[in-house]
Amino acid sequence: MDVERLKARAEEIGERENARLRERTPESAKLYERALKSLPAGVASNFQAGDPYPVYLSRGKGSRVWDVDGTEYVDFHGGFGVNVVGHAHPKIVEAIRRVADQGIHFAVTTPATVEIAEAVCERFQLDQVRFVNSGTEATMDAIRVARAATGRDRIVKMEGSYHGHHDVVLFSVVPEADTLGVRYDVGGEAADSAGTAYTTRPTSKGVPKSMWSDTIIVPFNDAVALEEVCREHGDEIACVILEPVMMNIGLVVPQPGYLQALRDICDRHGIVLIFDEVKCGGTIAYGGATERFGVRPHLACFAKAIGGGATIGAFGGEARIMEVVTKGAAQQGTFNGNPLSVAAGLAALTQVLTRDAYEGLAKMGTLLAEGCQRAIDDTGIPAHTMDLGAKGCVSYRKEPLRNYRDFLETIPELFYASYTWMVNRGVFMTPGDEEQWTISVQHTEEDIARYVDAFGEFCAELVS
Ligand SMILES: Cc1ncc(COP(=O)(O)O)c(C=O)c1O
Repeated sequence: MDVERLKARAEEIGERENARLRERTPESAKLYERALKSLPAGVASNFQAGDPYPVYLSRGKGSRVWDVDGTEYVDFHGGFGVNVVGHAHPKIVEAIRRVADQGIHFAVTTPATVEIAEAVCERFQLDQVRFVNSGTEATMDAIRVARAATGRDRIVKMEGSYHGHHDVVLFSVVPEADTLGVRYDVGGEAADSAGTAYTTRPTSKGVPKSMWSDTIIVPFNDAVALEEVCREHGDEIACVILEPVMMNIGLVVPQPGYLQALRDICDRHGIVLIFDEVKCGGTIAYGGATERFGVRPHLACFAKAIGGGATIGAFGGEARIMEVVTKGAAQQGTFNGNPLSVAAGLAALTQVLTRDAYEGLAKMGTLLAEGCQRAIDDTGIPAHTMDLGAKGCVSYRKEPLRNYRDFLETIPELFYASYTWMVNRGVFMTPGDEEQWTISVQHTEEDIARYVDAFGEFCAELVS
């Protein structure tokens, strides 16, 4: 297939669909103009920005959301992997109502906090856990704990991976930097040294120079690269942090034996292995990646779906490591264990996101992925689908991805045309190709068919 022709066609479609989007979303355009005055880029977070402007939402119910123009969509955006319970789930709403009536905040641990700690420990095979308020805080605190436990400063992270927006992980976060125009700039000496470890400048401005050599980058799915860097620098490295399934460049699964090899290397060098399960923990299986892939890290981080839509994060693992928080390593926060978040999270974990629920999510996800794959096969466009539980995506490259370098071979132009195409047809999606769908327990086969049909029409349009 002629890729340049496809890109040109995608551009044509994108322009036409953008014009259509502007026509049908005047209230979003108006709110954007207003928001620009009080919010940089008119949004509360860089990830919420959109082109030509964000489609602003006003409410959600079940599998649906409504924008400020009153248009209804089937929601596949899922709040970036949070809304596995769907919107306004009656059990979550009831739990929040009860708390709203009994005191929203104390900054004192309640019985419900202990209950959710027990639920998280049981579910994700942790000895102990501490709560925070976001995924960023979870990875920040886990890294501090690993540094305190080992007395070492340096960390290892995967090329092109995202772990939140605190300084030490803002190196080699390239998809996030799309808006900065540096998608293809992998940094450091890395441009021609695939397969080796390196340090690099940060992908965000504002990260102190004094930190630039603390973060070592290695490719995902390459245990040999980690082994090599550990042979030379093992006694300087506090932790290796990774998403066991990379979910910020589509969906990249670990190759057989990879996670166990990392665990073995970390054990040999006294390094703390941290699984960042902020996105995958509540989405891919009842017990997250630890259960799904059968490898236990020393520490793991959670957030997003475990709160049922409320603001929560958590990290935990082996008691011998976690105990440093009682021996001089700072781990605190006014809102940690906030009753509102705890009630929503407890209802989500114990009443909605049950083992049975994950069976249903996996079936729906596969239905969606297979439907999209049929359209890809019928039209021959260079793409493939991946799905794991509630999460999945179309990646615009024929072969599955093993790491960030493979992601650079995908064709972003095709995704961006598909985004406006789908949104204009009532399918709400994330605005970037780093992440695509999250389905919820409230999605139906009819919702899935809506996505599959719209995507099939997009593929046909692309090759017409
Ligand atoms: C794997 C991973 N870690 C950490 C974070 C940061 O979480 P938060 O946005 O809640 O700070 C994210 C957010 O997308 C994530 O995907």
